[in-house]
Amino acid sequence: MACGFRRSIAGQLSRVLDLPPENLIKSISAVPVSRKEEVADFQLSVDSLLENTNNHSRSDIQVQAKRLAEKLKCDTVVSEISTGPGTIHFKINRELLTKTVLRQVIKDGSKYGLKSELFSGLPQKKVVVEFSSPNVAKKFHVGHLRSTIIGNFIANIKEALGHQVTRINYLGDWGMQFGLLGTGFQLFGYEEKLQSNPLQHLFEVYVQVNKEAADDQSVAKSAQEFFQRLELGDTQALSLWQRFRDLSIEEYIRIYKRLGVYFDEYSGESFYREKSREVLKLLDSKGLLQKTEKGTAVVDLSRNGDPSSLCTVMRSDGTSLYATRDLAAAIDRMDKYSFDTMIYVTDKGQRKHFQQLFQMLKIMGFDWAERCRHVPFGVVQGMKTRRGDVTFLEDVLNEIRLRMLQNMASVKTTRELENPQETAEKVGLAALIIQDFRGLLLSDYQFSWDRVFQSRGDTGVFLQYTHARLHSLEETFGCGYLSEFNTACLQEPQSISVLQHLLRFDEVLYRSSQDLQPKHIVSYLLTLSHLAAVAHKTLHIKDNPPDVAAARLQLFKAVRSVLASGMQLLGITPVCRM
Ligand code: ARG
Repeated sequence: MACGFRRSIAGQLSRVLDLPPENLIKSISAVPVSRKEEVADFQLSVDSLLENTNNHSRSDIQVQAKRLAEKLKCDTVVSEISTGPGTIHFKINRELLTKTVLRQVIKDGSKYGLKSELFSGLPQKKVVVEFSSPNVAKKFHVGHLRSTIIGNFIANIKEALGHQVTRINYLGDWGMQFGLLGTGFQLFGYEEKLQSNPLQHLFEVYVQVNKEAADDQSVAKSAQEFFQRLELGDTQALSLWQRFRDLSIEEYIRIYKRLGVYFDEYSGESFYREKSREVLKLLDSKGLLQKTEKGTAVVDLSRNGDPSSLCTVMRSDGTSLYATRDLAAAIDRMDKYSFDTMIYVTDKGQRKHFQQLFQMLKIMGFDWAERCRHVPFGVVQGMKTRRGDVTFLEDVLNEIRLRMLQNMASVKTTRELENPQETAEKVGLAALIIQDFRGLLLSDYQFSWDRVFQSRGDTGVFLQYTHARLHSLEETFGCGYLSEFNTACLQEPQSISVLQHLLRFDEVLYRSSQDLQPKHIVSYLLTLSHLAAVAHKTLHIKDNPPDVAAARLQLFKAVRSVLASGMQLLGITPVCRM
């Protein structure tokens, strides 16, 4: 929130510099807390102010900073002004800082940070986020898991900022795999297994029929025929396909729920086989479609800079491809949602696909292609469950729960938990998400269960532990104290560090909302937890005068509130006991 401090500093600056305060607000930032020394609360980077004028030398900037600082005066808000390298530092009146930050956190609750002046005037947009998007009957691999948690985070943060978000799961629910599946199910499918465990059973059938088709030409042929029947709209074939799809989605919904993830729309490639034909016609009418010798059709994108760019959009038998269906899907979503932004979340292997997709939309004359954005992420190596490589989302969730339960069994409070399974799942998921979100999304990393679940160090277990501990503090002392508190009681360095850190939450949210990288929020929350641990050790509540106890309790309440909302944005459900 910064609680209007930035605005007040900007007000004074604006008078001295004769610039509108709105232009100055983003040059003023909260100073990160340092372990070594006491720091000021805000800083102004003189460099960023001079950005638009010509290049300034270092000493020049230093002189400018000093000169500007001399013109500024302390007032009821700012109690100290000093200069650093190219910066001006502001210290806020201590009592005001304490009172304002705590009041604001308590007042805004889960909206703290989001109502900040940094977001003021932010237009509300329609945002489509497409994520997860597994392929029916095929593996739900680690890439789909990453897409799921990253997409969920992006949708959460956009929604928190007041945008209207539509969450789409674009299933791989069409293509030759359904020819194989149709044939396979007739050969070795079981109705009961399909009903009771559709994802598992369809996958088994798919694996088996693939093997058979490799050895037996007639199986391969019959699969091809089945797919052709589907493409031609044969009702019997389609109704089997529909059942595979429906039962799979039902199970997906149930499993996503364990992750705390939901979708507004289960779309899929199947929706776009007919619309793909229209897309081909449109491409043709614009002179963009080139027939090849093989009978396929391509779009040449080389004039946009990449010389090797031919994108195939039609097979020789006239059917559509992945790219064609994506073109149709994008156009359809524009019609349906008139989005301001559409975000696709997939691994970086699909980068070229999305570049080509957006380029094709553009040369087709859809200016809104610029509103489409691909958020690529890196590869995770070595995630294994007891059943081997990741094949089902449910296996990963079960593995997390089991391992976490084993970890927790060594701690004595676990035995008193009402629902240890549920707690283990929430803590374990936090661990997984934090591990995944710590670095840049684009980086690859080597997965390790041991590292994920470390309770010490920068893990999700530590965040959950901190949250639970703060919660129990409130439970133990909560009711006895008033919400009116004496701010003079919170002037120890440990309190000030926490307050200064709370002051920065809005900037961190702002950064993550701009570059869509969760790592800013992750490191913020880890630091918050470390600061809280230090404060907890030194600032006792028990056996202290009531006003001191009440003030400290407020401080810890504020920390828990911010910790909880940060965790929730990341897709983590905070636990109150563990
Ligand atoms: N089903 C695809 C896969 O598993 C991901 C779909 C991504 N979204 C898209 N619009 N192409 O690789």
